[in-house]
Amino acid sequence: MALKIFILLSLLTAYVASDSCVTYDFEENFDNLFSTYGTCYTIQAPSWVIGEYSDLDIASPNERSTKFIKPSANDRANCVASFHLTMHFGGIYEFNFYLDLADDRDNIQIMSFSDEPDTFSAITGIFFVNSGTGWQTVRTTVNGPASYRGYIAIFSMASPNSTVLVDSFRYIPPGMDESLCQIYG
Ligand SMILES: *[C@@H]1O[C@H](CO)[C@@H](O)[C@H](O)[C@H]1NC(C)=O
Repeated sequence: MALKIFILLSLLTAYVASDSCVTYDFEENFDNLFSTYGTCYTIQAPSWVIGEYSDLDIASPNERSTKFIKPSANDRANCVASFHLTMHFGGIYEFNFYLDLADDRDNIQIMSFSDEPDTFSAITGIFFVNSGTGWQTVRTTVNGPASYRGYIAIFSMASPNSTVLVDSFRYIPPGMDESLCQIYG
């Protein structure tokens, strides 16, 4: 399954009715689930595109992973925005990506945004990576209201000789047992 949302009933809290783990592996439905929405639209950045490990000399991080996304244009900020998901103060988003950077300006940056109707869209989490070669797993704790609808935007600048691939991600709500939130489980 490409997109998984697990609902775990919480027995402990009266104020949170459920906690949802969200995972996505970019294997299916990328064009329906991701777009140049929101901040990506604002900055008019080129999007990301699907690629396949079978076309590269890079081994995928999991035997069930055959696809990734990569920036579509070199030497420019590329941006793609996720589907909306429910996020929480203290939740974590975690990305698995591959970097081989040829230029000092190359990087990947991942930001979460709150996006509730009739309110300002605000940045609730951010990470920025511009070093390290190979697979990396990076996570960020989000802030914002106790619970809100939002999306995650993935930015990258990549020069022609650089490789930037995003394999998968997950969102882990606060207090959830991470072993119950597996991307390739
Ligand atoms: C990319 O790599 C090739 C081969 O090493 C080199 O000739 C070329 O100048 C590089 N291009 C850039 C933009 O650095």
